[in-house]
Amino acid sequence: MTKINGQTRIVGVIGDPVQHSRSPQMHNAAILERKLDYVYVPFHVRSGELQEAIEGFKALNVLGVNVTIPHKQTVMSILDDVSHEATLIGAANTLIFCDGRVSGDNTDAQGFLRAMTEEGIDIPVGGSAVVLGAGGAARAVVVALALSGLDLITIANRTEWKAIQFEKDLATISETEISAVDLASNQLNLAIRSADLLVNTTSVGMQETDQLLIDPDFLNPGTIVYEIVYTPPETPLLRVAREKGCQTIGGIGMLVHQGAIAFEKWIGIVPNVETMRIALKQALYQKKL
Ligand code: ATR
Repeated sequence: MTKINGQTRIVGVIGDPVQHSRSPQMHNAAILERKLDYVYVPFHVRSGELQEAIEGFKALNVLGVNVTIPHKQTVMSILDDVSHEATLIGAANTLIFCDGRVSGDNTDAQGFLRAMTEEGIDIPVGGSAVVLGAGGAARAVVVALALSGLDLITIANRTEWKAIQFEKDLATISETEISAVDLASNQLNLAIRSADLLVNTTSVGMQETDQLLIDPDFLNPGTIVYEIVYTPPETPLLRVAREKGCQTIGGIGMLVHQGAIAFEKWIGIVPNVETMRIALKQALYQKKL
């Protein structure tokens, strides 16, 4: 634990609930390793008290906070400045307080991409991706891929109108074609068969007994399968993909990198991502690594 003194600066995370967040372990491990005079604290902020909390952070000279459920979207209307990516994603996961102002950023899209390149996997520029889900995480993934120069992104969601809304909202952010299809359609099967990348952004896979959202017969060994879910470390989708010979990526990397980018924005120092990853895995999987 950091030795708190008169100069210790505060960063943290706001959410409701927030007790489940493993960000404090991840960030404090990196702070401790670099012997920095900072501490990362969880703040339980209820929906009706978001505005007061933001004002309070300004008054208390807090340096920055991460934002988690349910505030990522609603916080946008309270911000003084919003980054381009946060605007496109429609959500902020990182706030920075400076000179009485609060600016919002979103590090999920960059975190998603960095986790891929760290594994030595090229972003399929000029290729195609299938994204399962159309919630907050999906939006960060689609923005990341659309800004990376993919030709086609196919979005499939249980509630189809949300995927269609994505298609409308994100159609003009780049040259990438964005197409919404039904989760149970043959169009999805065909898109998966020719995809360079398949990303699951839904919560399906968190339970060992969860059924696959896709028909694995259409999955090619050449398709990279990226799972946003990080508990369990190997979901049923990742297992099937591995058995098919696909390159796979789990959700831990994105979680670590979105945190590392936020850390860098607040503190101006690149944290040791391995330290963050080990602390996160210990916290999530409750075992010494
Ligand atoms: P997050 O911010 O993590 O993306 P979210 O915005 O609540 O969370 O989105 C959850 C996503 O998982 C949605 O795309 C949701 O589909 P719906 O829009 O139809 O609700 C998807 N999802 C959750 N449970 C699902 C299930 N059992 N089958 C298929 N999709 C599911």
